[in-house]
Amino acid sequence: MPLKGHFIKKNKILIIDFGSQVTKLIARRIRELKVYCEVINLKELKKIKNFKGVKGIILSGGPSTVNQRAYPKISKNVFSKNIPILGICYGLQLIAKSFGGKIKMLQKKREFGEAILLEKSKSILFKNFFINKKASVWMSHQDAVYKIPKGFKNIASTNNSKYTAIENKNKKIFGIQFHPEVTHTKKGFKIIKNFILDICKIKKNWVIGIEKNRIIKDLKKEIKKDKVICALSGGVDSSVVALLINKAIKKNLRCIMVDTGLLRKNEFKKSYKLFKYKYKLNIKLIKSKNLFYKRLKNIIDPEKKRKIIGNLFIKIFEKEAKKFKNVKYLAQGTLYPDIIESRSSTGSKSSKIKSHHNVGGLPKKMKLKLIEPLNELFKDEVRILGKSLGLDNLILKKHPFPGPGLAIRILGKITENKIKILQEADDIFINSLIKNNLYDKIWQAYAALLPIKTVGVMGDTRTFEYTCLLRAVISEDGMTAAKYNFTNEYLTQVSNKIINGVSGINRVVYDITSKPPSTIELE
Ligand code: XMP
Repeated sequence: MPLKGHFIKKNKILIIDFGSQVTKLIARRIRELKVYCEVINLKELKKIKNFKGVKGIILSGGPSTVNQRAYPKISKNVFSKNIPILGICYGLQLIAKSFGGKIKMLQKKREFGEAILLEKSKSILFKNFFINKKASVWMSHQDAVYKIPKGFKNIASTNNSKYTAIENKNKKIFGIQFHPEVTHTKKGFKIIKNFILDICKIKKNWVIGIEKNRIIKDLKKEIKKDKVICALSGGVDSSVVALLINKAIKKNLRCIMVDTGLLRKNEFKKSYKLFKYKYKLNIKLIKSKNLFYKRLKNIIDPEKKRKIIGNLFIKIFEKEAKKFKNVKYLAQGTLYPDIIESRSSTGSKSSKIKSHHNVGGLPKKMKLKLIEPLNELFKDEVRILGKSLGLDNLILKKHPFPGPGLAIRILGKITENKIKILQEADDIFINSLIKNNLYDKIWQAYAALLPIKTVGVMGDTRTFEYTCLLRAVISEDGMTAAKYNFTNEYLTQVSNKIINGVSGINRVVYDITSKPPSTIELE
């Protein structure tokens, strides 16, 4: 069982998840307002007996339709608690249905993408939202309300659907067909803010830096004198976990750092030194570079690479854990979005795009109890927490890095020589971003080595060398991403630096695709 319950149970907003892809964005927006919220599914909702600290409820969107015989719904009881409720998309349709309204499928006029919302009546929900009674919003729906329930008023429409936003002021129940949580709804944050602060009137007291002591105290209480083991990768999440637990129990924590030889140039050494000497963590260093290279030899398939690395990592970790006598807990840097994504409202798992590597497979076999002190936090909150723990900027500001490392940035076969070439090119790229004050503006940047050689000319000599691909994206959470817009001068400059500085590369290309349709990594 994950260690849960570090956080305030009072004064919160509940988000009931009906399975929308963007539910967690609602939670993010609310946390940005310094208000605590939790995403729960219908099963968890049923277990709640006491709604005392709940100041507002949001019903998310989802793929279901209320016109099915069995559709996901909440008990009428929840509507009668005098707690403000906001329904988004499916949430609106559920509210309408629950109060006697009617919903039908829009045959030819489904709305996906941008729509123009027209104000029909003033509402507190839309304070400072419309300009000249119009606003651009983002829709993704096929069902629409065509009969408004009794007691509700129509507050906004689009040309395709009349009851795009409805309210029952007395009951403080609101419903909107569009998604205010996505950035495509230009001023969507205002709606969330109006609901949370003006309608729910909740106190803004969620300050993660202050939560630090509470988390450490809870960890102490839970772990007592037992031993904890933690895989430390040098990324933000595992580093924050290690520092938190170290503060709570010190000598009973052992961190394992596995040198896979698949990290950026010098990165492993730098982070090892930092944790060993600056933070004085109890670290066991495992040098496994050759083993990883050997197992990856001639492997081309990206999924195979991921599996080999994941399994090898687990084996090494297991072996080391056994040496740590009487260890009871395994600490992991699981974040809140992972938790939200891994348990959908219906229990069904969304289709797997890539198998992500982490140590999640460990505990079952090793019979260790899991400790996940970050499992109620978003990435930006983890960074704030890390800062309040004194975590070095080297780690704190580091771009996300995939578990399988450079193995999935060398397309095709991996050789030691290719790793060296890539490390050099990547180092030049990253250092130039830092030097030009671009690094912190970018969510993630890296160099990759493509499995093609092309002809070039250097001096009077013909070359036949690898192509290096540069990728730099802006993103909020890695779920979607867009290319970073470098100037032509910058791209030319960095391409020259790489070609002049790295033997083995004679061509540089810049990846301009977004996610979707591409992913951030190439494999
Ligand atoms: P994609 O390529 O799926 O990446 O768009 C989204 C984010 O996840 C990171 N990523 C991984 N992180 N293990 C990780 O810990 C993995 O196997 C893995 N694959 C991708 C990627 O770097 C990006 O930040």
